[in-house]
Amino acid sequence: MLTMRPRGTNDIMPGEVETWQYLERQLRHICGEYGYAEIRTPIFEHTELFLRGVGDTTDIVEKEMYTFIDRGERSVTLRPEGTASAVRAYLEDKLYAGPQPVKLYYTGPMFRYDRPQAGRYRQFHQFGVEVFGSHDPAVDAEVIAMSMDFYGRIGLKNLALHVNSVGCPACRPHLRRQLQDFFRPRLASLCPNCRERYEKNPLRILDCKESRCSELGAEAPTTIDCLCDSCLTHFASVKKHLDLLHLPYIVDRRLVRGLDYYTHTAFEIMAPDIGAQSSIGGGGRYNGLVETCGGPPTPGIGYALGLERIILAMKNQGCAIPRSPGLDVFVVTAGREAEHTAFHLLFKIRRAGISADKDYLNRSLKAQMKYAGKAGTRFAVIIGEEELKSDTAVVRDMDAQEQATVAMGEVIKYLQAKMRHAPRLP
Ligand code: HAM
Repeated sequence: MLTMRPRGTNDIMPGEVETWQYLERQLRHICGEYGYAEIRTPIFEHTELFLRGVGDTTDIVEKEMYTFIDRGERSVTLRPEGTASAVRAYLEDKLYAGPQPVKLYYTGPMFRYDRPQAGRYRQFHQFGVEVFGSHDPAVDAEVIAMSMDFYGRIGLKNLALHVNSVGCPACRPHLRRQLQDFFRPRLASLCPNCRERYEKNPLRILDCKESRCSELGAEAPTTIDCLCDSCLTHFASVKKHLDLLHLPYIVDRRLVRGLDYYTHTAFEIMAPDIGAQSSIGGGGRYNGLVETCGGPPTPGIGYALGLERIILAMKNQGCAIPRSPGLDVFVVTAGREAEHTAFHLLFKIRRAGISADKDYLNRSLKAQMKYAGKAGTRFAVIIGEEELKSDTAVVRDMDAQEQATVAMGEVIKYLQAKMRHAPRLP
């Protein structure tokens, strides 16, 4: 156990972490362009927030939360998603009193106790955005388009964008009745989960992954059949704005999503080639959530993307993932006397903004050169007895396999000139 990480968690190791850093750079960049500001909320919150915010009929709340009593006898929960925390911060920090809309983004680990499999983890990472304070259907289209823009920039192709409208408090009771009327004679054939959903939240039956429930539900009334005029108009306008951007989408009448807070627009993005867990992102409008959490009536909309699944899809599609460039310099020494000079030079090189390292294992010159080569170092700066005597160093360009003897005081300038004239290819 001591040397095993908990089930459903991952180490992100050097070699992989560069992909994460690349995605994080792209995310921050796109958020800047679209006018979203970063928010960082705690990894854990009062359990009550998720009970109310995410909804107590959801799988997340019913069976997936990491909830525990802390030493102060309070029930806290590792965040299973980011929307509820963003709403809490919007209220606690009184963002509703400032200029609207408020456009926020976040990225970080989320926690859900589920059966781990490829693309489904107990600790996973989301990037998400939330917009508070606007009813405008153009905002729905903006957040959808922004997520698709991001996937496009990192080279993902063949994604399917599913959109639907799940109605509002005015049409939900009608939808609920219609669904209950439809499923009543079929109740005994539904899975045990859906039999519970029938009472609590029949909409979720449409979302059940059990084949008997999806077969039974194939003819069920869909959300769109029951929308009120205002929801229909809103949805038509969202689609119109997506059309203006020439963004292809599928109207998926069965899409309801697994969280209780959605109203109006719901959407999900699927990657075809990453197995069962094909949803690489999803979101929607949640016009009642701020109020449910104790705030003033405030419309909201957002989405979250799963970074592990995005990386899986990038690997499967062979998307270019930039590699880390490796060290610029390895300072190689021959003999103990050279060590002090090398140590001093190493720090001068680093202070000049050039990445550098040296041997700390007392290896032979040959072994040091081999290590520098394996580590992908661009230059070896070699200091042996001869160089000590003549106050010089040998600078070897490992890519070009050329070397030159350079006066010790000139080494940094020499390296800088070389790097300027022939920057390393990625
Ligand atoms: P969600 O659909 O539960 O939505 O999660 C969003 C994305 O997180 C999924 O599409 C998936 O890529 C990833 N994801 C979810 N669970 C796991 C898991 N166990 N392992 C790996 N990846 C996972 C939300 O969380 C909403 N808060 C999105 C939102 C924001 N809606 C409005 N604003």
